[in-house]
Amino acid sequence: MTRSKVIAVCGKGGVGKTTLAALLTRILREDGGRRVLVVDADPAVGLGMALRIFPPKTVNDVRKEILSAVREHATDQLDLAASVDYKMMEILVERDNLAFLSVGRPEEEGCYCQLNTLLREAIESLSSHFDLTLIDAEAGVEQVNRRVMRSVSHLLLVSDVTVKGLRVAESIREVAEEAVEYRKLGLVVNRVRDTIEARRLAENTSLPFLGVLPEDDMVREFDVAAGNFLEIPSCPALEAVRECLFESGFLSS
Ligand SMILES: Nc1ncnc2c1ncn2[C@@H]1O[C@H](COP(=O)(O)OP(=O)(O)O)[C@@H](O)[C@H]1O
Ligand SMILES: [Mg+2]
Repeated sequence: MTRSKVIAVCGKGGVGKTTLAALLTRILREDGGRRVLVVDADPAVGLGMALRIFPPKTVNDVRKEILSAVREHATDQLDLAASVDYKMMEILVERDNLAFLSVGRPEEEGCYCQLNTLLREAIESLSSHFDLTLIDAEAGVEQVNRRVMRSVSHLLLVSDVTVKGLRVAESIREVAEEAVEYRKLGLVVNRVRDTIEARRLAENTSLPFLGVLPEDDMVREFDVAAGNFLEIPSCPALEAVRECLFESGFLSS
């Protein structure tokens, strides 16, 4: 039996992870027969903003509830495990064939480790109920390193046309060799004005190259006006996502 697909979008900050995740969500919504879990794993909550979905409760809220239950000794370990699954199901926000989960943002720096552990458990238990799970990861290698992405089957690395962006993508791949059980990995280069230059940069890396997303005024307009990416009309970046991820075969197996 093949596992259900779990896709994580990873890369340096500001390269377009959230934009790519939002455009991909827009495409996945067209296929109403497929149940999709969308996870905003970045405490900066960009994906929720792009899709105009603002969950009343986040994984961080569940973390706080569990902590207070444990403090009050109100639950034993077994109850706790069952109630985590239940609580995660309960906080999903549904839109047609999509269910949306947001990690939230802890108040104190020291809580990130706990939150990442809970997020990993949530991803692993919830994803089995869906045909496909899409995760918009936090920038950089941290969540990969902390094995939050352990169960990811398709690791999608995004970079802009800078050497820095590509280096971060390569270092995520290095960490993922140990920390992620991925079946497929690929690089998308975003905000491209010169496809030949972007291709040359990508070919200088060791990463399998899936293609480019052009710099797109429609994306910029939606960003400026806080438009809902679930409703973005056909535009060059959206069509390029289809090409890079579906026509390339990346997501078809
Ligand atoms: N293809 C694109 N065309 C135009 N603007 C883009 C494109 N991709 C991303 N952007 C803009 O770049 C900025 C950063 O993108 P974002 O997706 O938030 O990056 P990340 O999630 O990696 O931090 C946003 O303002 C976004 O609108
Ligand atoms: Mg983002």
